[in-house]
Amino acid sequence: MPANDPLFEPLRLGAIEIPNRVVMAPLTRARATDRTPNALMAEYYQQRASAGLIVSEATAFSEQGYGWPGAPALYNDQQVDGWRRITDAVHQAGGRIFLQLWHMGRVSHPDFQAGRLPVAPSAVAAAGDAHTPTGKKPFVTPHALSVDEIARVVDDYAAATARARRAGFDGVEVHGANGYLIDQFLRDASNRRDDQYGGSIENRLRFLGEVLAAVTAEWAPERTGLRLSPTMNGMGMSDSDPVALYTAAAEMLNGVSLAYVHTAEAIAPGRLYNPDAPRVTPHIRRAYEGVLMTNGGYDHQTAAEAIRSGAADAIAFGQSYIANPDLVERFRAGAALNEPDHSTYYTHGAEGYTDYPAMAETARTATA
Ligand SMILES: Cc1cc2nc3c(=O)[nH]c(=O)nc-3n(C[C@H](O)[C@H](O)[C@H](O)COP(=O)(O)O)c2cc1C
Repeated sequence: MPANDPLFEPLRLGAIEIPNRVVMAPLTRARATDRTPNALMAEYYQQRASAGLIVSEATAFSEQGYGWPGAPALYNDQQVDGWRRITDAVHQAGGRIFLQLWHMGRVSHPDFQAGRLPVAPSAVAAAGDAHTPTGKKPFVTPHALSVDEIARVVDDYAAATARARRAGFDGVEVHGANGYLIDQFLRDASNRRDDQYGGSIENRLRFLGEVLAAVTAEWAPERTGLRLSPTMNGMGMSDSDPVALYTAAAEMLNGVSLAYVHTAEAIAPGRLYNPDAPRVTPHIRRAYEGVLMTNGGYDHQTAAEAIRSGAADAIAFGQSYIANPDLVERFRAGAALNEPDHSTYYTHGAEGYTDYPAMAETARTATA
């Protein structure tokens, strides 16, 4: 480890302090049993407990918000108990874990909704296919939420926050990224409303503002993070002026005192984000006064540089965490990383999930 590596400086995130700035990004892995977290998932998260912070895989907090085969949920007591085993396992290993609160909005599918349409700000279909239990199917045109229905979704966020707290999480990360419901309200490709939730930037920020007010009132701002992906362009997502939108969002967030804001945006070509679009995170950094975590194609060196230059306070790692349960120890030792196997990202069971070797095991295998 190079002397004074900024990744190993502690950082205060609202109510908690993290011992290093290497964060495990939220990663859907589709290993739940009937939407309920299980022992295999507890083992997977415990293996990664040396991360400064673990952000859990996206977790639907209502049946309406669900839409990924094998993903865990958090809308009943059994699911609370399942998550409790995971938070206990992470805490026993000395780690910290936030739950990522997920509502998929229009990119769910009637197959998850007892035949009903998924919901969204506007009746505009996403581009591409939903992953349903019986394979990929084109996204449908969603039901546009009424103002009363929006209020019920906001209530669901608060109820889920209470369940996350009961399940032993250290906090919640509101998923405002990657083309899901909040993002659908934020960006004007998916939000075509002409009421108080659409049109102007101020109106498109309203739903996010209401969700954060509900979540922070239920628990606390210092237990709440938020993820945004200003330039992610999958599933038909885009905005006519992302710099203006996310600068206004940052200014709104200055009034909320969150534990952190987390941007997911490519610094290098990746699977998910738009590496050709000018990055918006630097604008958020300038406008936002709180802790900023960022993610999207970082390695040890680029992460350390980002922190050293003041571009961000912490870095989240996605695919490196899939393949390296001991990413923190590997960074400390300057050791090589295991390569992730894309073919097992969303499969079942331990293969490609809990069987990536830790450093000592790699060394043993190499000398065997
Ligand atoms: C298999 C897989 C699952 C993912 N699941 C989520 C998720 O549940 N929530 C989320 O916000 N992002 C999710 N992402 C995005 C990652 O958090 C991260 O932004 C992305 O992998 C880019 O970071 P990286 O270059 O370090 O991998 C997922 C990415 C992958 C590869």
